[in-house]
Amino acid sequence: MRPIGLQPMTPLPGEGKSFLKWAGGKTRYAKTLVAVAPAFTGTYREPFLGSGAVFFELNPSRAILSDANEELIICFREVAKDAEAVMKRLDDYINTREHFEEVRSQNPAALSNLDRAARVIYLNKTSFRGLWRVNQKGQFNTPYGAYDRPYYSRQTLSEASKLLAGAEIRVADFQEQLDQATEGDWVYLDPPYIPLGGWADFKRYTPGQFNEDDHIRLFKAMKRASERGVFVTLSNSDTPFVRDLFKNDFNIAKMATRRDINLQAAKRENWDLVVTNYKLPNTVTQLAT
Ligand SMILES: C[S@@+](CC[C@H](N)C(=O)[O-])C[C@H]1O[C@@H](n2cnc3c(N)ncnc32)[C@H](O)[C@@H]1O
Repeated sequence: MRPIGLQPMTPLPGEGKSFLKWAGGKTRYAKTLVAVAPAFTGTYREPFLGSGAVFFELNPSRAILSDANEELIICFREVAKDAEAVMKRLDDYINTREHFEEVRSQNPAALSNLDRAARVIYLNKTSFRGLWRVNQKGQFNTPYGAYDRPYYSRQTLSEASKLLAGAEIRVADFQEQLDQATEGDWVYLDPPYIPLGGWADFKRYTPGQFNEDDHIRLFKAMKRASERGVFVTLSNSDTPFVRDLFKNDFNIAKMATRRDINLQAAKRENWDLVVTNYKLPNTVTQLAT
């Protein structure tokens, strides 16, 4: 096992500029998404924050970041406030199955915010594939991943802390964020995806499942925001459900999620749909036909 004091100067694999690796994270094409950002003049809003890959790539001057996952948001807030304190706390953790199981079974509500934040990063780096999965009672239940890697990169966490310093970071349902957006704001929406294989294998991020009704609720909130002059961009899987929902009111383009593939031959999982209320340059996207 790597001594815990040995921290790499570059981001850990899969993190990009964020300090977490999140399921559905946009690290691999955050640059492409930012390159096609609208010319917005207001606040950047990211209501499905996850690891915040697009926020970190964009580095906007005004931002409101939110997610329904309270543990994640507490972690972001503590990193913004005092990354040194979070790292110091992380240095006390041990990468063994026993310690992992002990940390996993903790009731976060009984911990300080600093311990809650360190626990999120520790579980993200030591659990199987870094999946944040909870049971019906909200208890974290991803198994141990047995990875030989440090929990954090000092450089990544310190830089993330600086970038987060001016942002407002909240626990919120996406709809509240979208409904608060005003003319000139840009809202990037990256919800739990519609599964390519149907609804049955849909991942749970929080105790409440993100289901078909939530996607329809999201579509309606996007329409309202769009009518107020807010720029909106949504990523989702290339499924008939998404195409049908957005085809009459929004532009839909296909964006490759990997750079190293032959786009014509690419499998469906290597494409995302990008739904916008403004025109995207066709240099990076193709019309979804
Ligand atoms: C696909 S991930 C976002 C990944 C992120 N773009 C990144 O780069 O890491 C979806 C996020 O939506 C959050 N979420 C699920 N339901 C939500 C809701 N109703 N309102 C707000 N956030 C929600 C999850 O907690 C999860 O962090």
